[in-house]
Amino acid sequence: MATRFRHQFSISLALTFFCFFFTTFSFTENEELGFLLRFKASIDDPKGSLSGWSNTSSSSSHHCNWTGITCTRAPSLYVSSINLQSLNLSGEISDSVCNLPYLTHLDLSQNFFNQPIPLHLSRCLTLETLNLSNNLIWGTIPDQISEFSALKVLDFSSNHVEGKIPEDLGLLFNLQVLDLGSNLLSGLVPPAIGKLSELVVLDLSENSYLVSEIPSSIGKLDKLEQLLLHRSGFHGEIPTSFVGLTSLKILDLCLNNLTGEITRSIGSSLKNLESLDVSQNKISGSFPSGICRGKRLINLSLHSNYFEGPLPNSIGECLSLERFQVQNNGFSGEFPVGLWSSPKIKIIRADNNRLTGQVPDSVSSASALEQVEIDSNSFSGEIPHGLGLIKNLYKFSASENGFGGELPPNFCDSPVLSIVNISHNKLLGKIPELKNCKKLVSLSLAGNEFTGEIPTSLADLHVLTYLDLSDNKLTGLIPQDLQNLKLALFNVSFNRLSGEVPQSLVSGLPASFLQGNPGLCGPGLPNSCSSGRSSFHKTGALMLALICLALALATSLVMSYRYHRKKVQFKSTWQSEFYYPLRLTEQELMKVMQNDSCPSVSEVYVLSLSSGELIAVKKLVNPRNISSKALKAKVRTIAKIRHKNITRILGFCFTDELIFLIYEFTQNGSLHDMLSRPGDQLQWSVRLKIALGVAQALAYISRDYVPHLLHRNLKSTNILLDKDFEPKLSDFALDQIVGETAFQSVLHASSYPCYTAPENNYSKKATEEMDVYSFGVLLLELVTGQRAEKAEGGESGESLDIVKQVRRKINLTNGAAQVLDEKILSSSCQSEMLKTLDIALSCIAVAAEKRLSMLQVIKALESISSSTEKLPVSA
Ligand SMILES: *[C@@H]1O[C@H](CO)[C@@H](O)[C@H](O)[C@H]1NC(C)=O
Ligand SMILES: *[C@@H]1O[C@H](CO)[C@@H](O)[C@H](O)[C@H]1NC(C)=O
Ligand SMILES: *[C@@H]1O[C@H](CO)[C@@H](O)[C@H](O)[C@H]1NC(C)=O
Ligand SMILES: *[C@@H]1O[C@H](CO)[C@@H](O)[C@H](O)[C@H]1NC(C)=O
Ligand SMILES: *[C@@H]1O[C@H](CO)[C@@H](O)[C@H](O)[C@H]1NC(C)=O
Ligand SMILES: *[C@@H]1O[C@H](CO)[C@@H](O)[C@H](O)[C@H]1NC(C)=O
Ligand SMILES: *[C@@H]1O[C@H](CO)[C@@H](O)[C@H](O)[C@H]1NC(C)=O
Ligand SMILES: *[C@@H]1O[C@H](CO)[C@@H](O)[C@H](O)[C@H]1NC(C)=O
Ligand SMILES: *[C@@H]1O[C@H](CO)[C@@H](O)[C@H](O)[C@H]1NC(C)=O
Ligand SMILES: *[C@@H]1O[C@H](CO)[C@@H](O)[C@H](O)[C@H]1NC(C)=O
Repeated sequence: MATRFRHQFSISLALTFFCFFFTTFSFTENEELGFLLRFKASIDDPKGSLSGWSNTSSSSSHHCNWTGITCTRAPSLYVSSINLQSLNLSGEISDSVCNLPYLTHLDLSQNFFNQPIPLHLSRCLTLETLNLSNNLIWGTIPDQISEFSALKVLDFSSNHVEGKIPEDLGLLFNLQVLDLGSNLLSGLVPPAIGKLSELVVLDLSENSYLVSEIPSSIGKLDKLEQLLLHRSGFHGEIPTSFVGLTSLKILDLCLNNLTGEITRSIGSSLKNLESLDVSQNKISGSFPSGICRGKRLINLSLHSNYFEGPLPNSIGECLSLERFQVQNNGFSGEFPVGLWSSPKIKIIRADNNRLTGQVPDSVSSASALEQVEIDSNSFSGEIPHGLGLIKNLYKFSASENGFGGELPPNFCDSPVLSIVNISHNKLLGKIPELKNCKKLVSLSLAGNEFTGEIPTSLADLHVLTYLDLSDNKLTGLIPQDLQNLKLALFNVSFNRLSGEVPQSLVSGLPASFLQGNPGLCGPGLPNSCSSGRSSFHKTGALMLALICLALALATSLVMSYRYHRKKVQFKSTWQSEFYYPLRLTEQELMKVMQNDSCPSVSEVYVLSLSSGELIAVKKLVNPRNISSKALKAKVRTIAKIRHKNITRILGFCFTDELIFLIYEFTQNGSLHDMLSRPGDQLQWSVRLKIALGVAQALAYISRDYVPHLLHRNLKSTNILLDKDFEPKLSDFALDQIVGETAFQSVLHASSYPCYTAPENNYSKKATEEMDVYSFGVLLLELVTGQRAEKAEGGESGESLDIVKQVRRKINLTNGAAQVLDEKILSSSCQSEMLKTLDIALSCIAVAAEKRLSMLQVIKALESISSSTEKLPVSA
């Protein structure tokens, strides 16, 4: 018996060995198919993109024909490449593909893989390309990364990879492309990176925690063609070793903290350079001469540095140059005149320097020219006739220079011309009739010496939105037809205009600037036209009061002139920025500002604009200790968020005292309103949808959006509902705008304590857990149908907030079911409501570390909601 057993055992062992041998060295097509199916099995594929990956031969499709699979024909058909980008895949990346003996290329970019770097793929011994860009990969790069020894292309860009770049990365000797851009890497860049001698592309850009000098060893990478280090934290000098980068075509170092001079590091040795961007650093010194000798420069951008001195003449020889960007520096001397006729030049940006020179008539031969920005320099001469002959020109901005003479009649003949700013020059004569530039959106001729009348042809430029003719010597009437334009700004102040102002130019505009034209008359102006109409009453109370004041002070022209000066000052303290074309008058905003009866500083007002649009306006107290520039930057940071479940910020206005944030208005008011409204009950499925949308929005601002933001004032009044009851989060991250101190006072004035996590009382730092707590309270409101701050009293009649009330009831037997909102309770939704209640309770755990994370909340809610969708929708 025993021997037979042993015998059988050794046979099976032999078989196992045979199989092993077989699988490793001699694949059948069926086995490749099996590995692919195993790879698929661990992947979540919501779009069913991989549904064709199946072994049912009904489709009679060979696996080499499956989505994303490419096979090689040598020695026979084998999978060589798997390319599954942008298919909304998530789940696990399995290493079963490493059994494919000829796999060289694996691209899973632009999916939702949410895991650490899949080190087990280093088992794929033949793998040359690994592209995991644009996923949710997190964690650090471990030293074992060196095990990917065959890799030539490694792309982890746009993930959440953090920590230091390991020294051992330098062991991947075969690497030609290393892209770690847009991650959360930190620390110093190890000099070992200079050992990657085959490197052609190195991208460490957009890693703002990477605070490091540029290792001088990078200069050894003589095959390097692209070095992209922009928007990180690089400081120190550009290493002089960069002269060794003889193959370099694109060098982008912009938006770092680099110092020193550029000449020593980037000289004529960079023969092949096509694009150079060292803008927005602190680099000084003069521009290296001879940088353009190679005539291959395609893209020169040196803006926002502290360069000084003349530009080298040789730049004029750059026949291939497409972009010339030297803005925001200290360049002086003559602008290289040859550039104006470069055949390929598209963009000339030299604004904010001290350059002199003229725009020659030969500019007409720069037929590719699209954009010219040379504001704030010392250019002189006339605006040439040749400019009107360029067919592609869409922007010409040359304000604050010394241009003189008359405008050529063909000035606006470029068919795509959209933006013209030649304000603050010494131009004179009549404004030519502007007939051909039908795409003109913005025209600023302010601060010149134009005479004659406002050309009536302006009224035919139907997309004209911004018209600034202020501070000239224009005479005559304001053309009636200008009323037909949808102007957002109309400034004709300080001219010599006269006669009646067209009605809608006074009342329907955000900013009508008419002052300094003593001859103008009409409502709201010191001279009512002699007919003296009652339209006077239509203007706002404030205006009336001011006018009364002015009249009381004096009736003399001198005095009323002074009054106007005052008004100008008053208005000039207003600043605004719109991210959306709004037609909003100051008077309309004033209405909010004048409202003394407003209950608290953080209320939101709904305003109806004269255009019929509705907007929501949030009034905040301006903390006053930040510059308007900083304030604008802060608001912009928040206004950039685009998410279906987040209210858009349309713009904002501010004075020294106040800030008005302007939000889009949603149809159905706030969740708070809905819960307070008797009768009209939101069905459970709608409430669940609201919960999920809010959770997604919260996760988005705190995880995906950069910078990561916290809401910090989540409550049902801040959940707006659109016409389909899709939730939109509003009022978030106001601390980012007004600062912590002012924000705290906003909070005190407006928030209900029951939304506030307990640790908020002793912890100074706001955390995501606090938002989760508030979200839990919101969930309680949805489940119980009660408003958080106004839950019904306890048995003893004492008032209880929703958290206490729910906690108390749940302690009773069968308590949980009693908590549910009986107005909508039905047998079909009871279990879902109970599950949601559970989630809510885990969110309001007293100990912050016991609370669910927002992502866990989303998962949990999603699983409830997916079970809902299968049920028939009840009316
Ligand atoms: C794929 O993902 C995008 C981005 O999240 C999403 O908008 C889209 O609806 C998804 N498609 C499917 C079918 O899941
Ligand atoms: C892939 O499909 C094409 C036609 O759809 C077919 O001609 C070809 O033989 C298939 N390839 C394999 C390897 O089956
Ligand atoms: C990785 O994939 C993305 C698109 O998904 C692509 O843009 C990028 O160029 C790829 N990386 C490399 C190094 O080829
Ligand atoms: C540059 O350095 C300053 C102070 O050293 C720091 O505040 C700033 O954030 C840095 N800027 C960048 C872009 O790293
Ligand atoms: C035109 O230039 C002036 C001065 O540089 C600037 O203040 C103004 O904002 C510009 N106008 C537009 C519409 O860009
Ligand atoms: C209107 O023009 C006057 C005079 O140039 C100027 O002081 C004022 O700031 C302008 N207003 C706006 C909003 O451009
Ligand atoms: C002023 O505030 C009160 C109280 O919030 C509000 O009812 C009223 O509509 C506001 N008035 C205006 C003109 O906005
Ligand atoms: C503004 O002042 C508050 C205290 O009043 C302070 O917390 C905040 O940091 C200040 N902000 C700036 C930009 O100075
Ligand atoms: C917004 O919320 C709804 C659920 O109410 C959801 O279907 C939708 O996907 C959310 N939008 C985004 C961009 O997540
Ligand atoms: C609920 O019951 C537990 C155990 O009986 C008790 O420790 C807890 O204090 C009760 N909670 C409330 C809110 O009454």
